[in-house]
Amino acid sequence: MVWHKSKLNSRCPEIEFIAVDKKFQGIGIGSKLIESVTKHEAVIGATLMTKTSNPLAKNIYEKKYNAIISYEFLLFGKKYWYLTWKPSI
Ligand SMILES: CC(C)(COP(=O)(O)OP(=O)(O)OC[C@H]1O[C@@H](n2cnc3c(N)ncnc32)[C@H](O)[C@@H]1OP(=O)(O)O)[C@@H](O)C(=O)NCCC(=O)NCCS
Repeated sequence: MVWHKSKLNSRCPEIEFIAVDKKFQGIGIGSKLIESVTKHEAVIGATLMTKTSNPLAKNIYEKKYNAIISYEFLLFGKKYWYLTWKPSI
């Protein structure tokens, strides 16, 4: 996982990339990684953002974190979503 305080807006930290080895997917590791960010002191009171082209990841952010789609775009025929959400304390 790679995440950082956004370079564009210091109050909008971003999960840039998250991946779990295929052998270990579906057993809660991805959720734990995302939660470690949402609980980080640098994120308190902030709006988190992430970008993904994976419908499964989009679904996780929407269902588990109530993320909303800020905007979507096509890149070389592939759809990408920008999602934002405010972690609950
Ligand atoms: C997205 C990703 C990080 C999720 O990690 P993970 O460890 O598998 O996630 P979890 O085990 O915590 O599962 C999170 C939720 O998704 C669901 N889920 C996981 N794998 C699933 C699958 N193959 N099909 C349907 N649902 C699935 C789980 O049931 C869970 O929901 P729940 O908590 O309500 O039961 C992982 O699938 C991945 O590495 N994908 C490839 C890289 C990628 O696309 N990253 C995102 C963009 S950067």
